[in-house]
Amino acid sequence: MDTLEEVADAVAACTACPLHLSRRNTVPGEGTGRKGIMFVGEAPGRNEDEQGRPFVGAAGELLTDLITRILGLRRDDVFITNVVKCRPPGNREPEPGEAAACWRYLEAQVRILRPRIIVALGRHAATALLAGPGSRPLSIGAVRGRPRTARIAGVDVTVFPTLHPAAALYNRGQMDVLEEDFRRLAGMLGGGGTLDAFMRDRAIGPGEWTPRNA
Ligand code: URA
Ligand code: SF4
Repeated sequence: MDTLEEVADAVAACTACPLHLSRRNTVPGEGTGRKGIMFVGEAPGRNEDEQGRPFVGAAGELLTDLITRILGLRRDDVFITNVVKCRPPGNREPEPGEAAACWRYLEAQVRILRPRIIVALGRHAATALLAGPGSRPLSIGAVRGRPRTARIAGVDVTVFPTLHPAAALYNRGQMDVLEEDFRRLAGMLGGGGTLDAFMRDRAIGPGEWTPRNA
């Protein structure tokens, strides 16, 4: 799997966990990732399963709004995917074994795009990215809002855990927390989402960095 297309093809043919039995479409992820940022959610829901695209329902609308309004980026500037690429039946949570089976595809996407920052949306993404897929679930409230360094698929990345957007829709009190985390993220990106300071720290200009598969 050397390109995002090859990952998507492998996912479309995958039968490595029971989620393949009930899916309508696989949801490998989308976006250019050209700003060096990846967002990882939990699992496709009904809308995502119908369209084969990540975060296209209500939670996706909120995520897109946060990316554009607070980070100053376009949705297509980032790469958006999930811990598991097939919808769990009835929107149940993915099981540790399913996250572990699907981990190879997220690893391949990280290897291909080499993101600087991976935003873990919610407990399942935070657990897989910080503790390893199949680990006992972390408390998202305990880890959110603070960047941590990690090595994923041999790539050194900053993992930034925050709440899942669906949690903020379900409990409006969490909306302020999610927005606060995104403002922190915007600060890490150099403000206004320009990535200037972020790129300067790494001694590369905004125009110079492109994903390896561009
Ligand atoms: N929730 C997720 O975790 N992922 C999606 O793609 C949509 C909703
Ligand atoms: Fe394969 Fe992942 Fe789908 Fe399971 S969720 S069948 S591991 S692509």
